[in-house]
Amino acid sequence: MSAVVQAAGLLKTDEGVDLGGDYLDVLGQRDPIGPHRGQQVFRRKFVAKVYERHWRPMVSRFFFGFSGPSEEEERRIALEMMRIGEGDQVIDVGCGTGNYTRHLAQAAGEGLTVGLDASETMVAAAAERSDRPNLAFLRGDACALPFEDETFDVACSVGVIHMVEEPMVALGEMVRVLAPGGRIVILASCARKERQRGARNGLTTFGRDELTGALRERGLGEIEQKVIRRGQFVVAQKPAAGGGE
Ligand SMILES: C[S@@+](CC[C@H](N)C(=O)[O-])C[C@H]1O[C@@H](n2cnc3c(N)ncnc32)[C@H](O)[C@@H]1O
Repeated sequence: MSAVVQAAGLLKTDEGVDLGGDYLDVLGQRDPIGPHRGQQVFRRKFVAKVYERHWRPMVSRFFFGFSGPSEEEERRIALEMMRIGEGDQVIDVGCGTGNYTRHLAQAAGEGLTVGLDASETMVAAAAERSDRPNLAFLRGDACALPFEDETFDVACSVGVIHMVEEPMVALGEMVRVLAPGGRIVILASCARKERQRGARNGLTTFGRDELTGALRERGLGEIEQKVIRRGQFVVAQKPAAGGGE
């Protein structure tokens, strides 16, 4: 069974979803990407083309500074936090062109990895670059994940939650689809030192304790945060069924 068909089996409903394409599309004509130019730009074809080689490295430098972790180092830190095991079912929310998703799929071995993004051009590029049989891509909204509750062992979102219209809804959705004992890892903006949260041109700068607090409020534990300049890595774990490890 192809990864796309396997992913379709996890949907709340696959009614009207084309199972024959390179990726699944549950949005059709709907565009949940915010209206600001900095958000809408991800719908442009040229961005998908230059994203991995030129755009993404600049974004990393913006958040982490020139002395901050390289992209490879950033990915190593995030993957270490995820602790993906062989056979785990993994979701990458706002996967872009699949630059992280491909590595997650490699770590999950035969487990299904799903990359979800709202941009048709980004998700099409991700599907085209897909190099593993356990990897499926889907066009969907981070704020309304189309999956059943408790579906994934690991949920990650890198560089996305600060640019969606309702970040806390997206966070809640990731928690909802996470299986008991599962881990959530987020890379996002972070206010520097004593500065307050802010929101400008569709980009939220989270207050220092905002994401960790929101995860705690939603019942997650084992919360850790690593702040580097304007960026943060956050990891948390959903309690296991029956309260065990
Ligand atoms: C900066 S890119 C991050 C891509 C990738 N995760 C990475 O680490 O490079 C942000 C992505 O979020 C996607 N995005 C924005 N709003 C979204 C939403 N509501 N639902 C799903 N994806 C969204 C954009 O299409 C874009 O591909």
